[in-house]
Amino acid sequence: MQSRTFNKLMTIIFVLFLFSSCTSDFIVPDPPAPPPAPPSPNENKISYAGEIQPIFTAKCSFCHGVGATPPVLVSGKSYQSLMTMPGQIDTVTPGNSILYKKMVTGGSMAQYCNKANADSVYKWIRQGAKNN
Ligand code: HEC
Repeated sequence: MQSRTFNKLMTIIFVLFLFSSCTSDFIVPDPPAPPPAPPSPNENKISYAGEIQPIFTAKCSFCHGVGATPPVLVSGKSYQSLMTMPGQIDTVTPGNSILYKKMVTGGSMAQYCNKANADSVYKWIRQGAKNN
């Protein structure tokens, strides 16, 4: 009698143990990041030739020339260079674009440009990073 009670007790403890070990196996995946806000239809359209290249020409191209530190940011060559360097431009999540992350406050290129320049680049990427 004594040992049957003991066995029952051990079975209950074992089953409880099984359940407790199972629950710790669940891995709850992180919720997906919310998609970036779509550009407002009224947002001013950023032209690459008209607004982005002039920033590069004035503030970046003397270091980022052909054969120098990539990406090449000289007029006529910059778009091709940015598009072929992996990770520079991310139109799905513009904030992940290396080009933007380098230019925004805290990035290593922020000292050569200002917040308005970084904002323009962000908008241009969000609008599809067109060669317009
Ligand atoms: C004084 C020289 C200099 C100037 C001016 C300069 N850069 Fe740079 N840039 C560098 C150097 C050196 C590196 C590599 C080290 C680093 O990533 O910080 C670099 C790296 C970068 C990278 C990262 C490339 C990679 O490997 O992913 C980007 C993007 C970039 N620069 C963009 C810019 C932009 C845009 C401007 C103008 C606002 C600019 N740079 C101005 C020297 C410069």
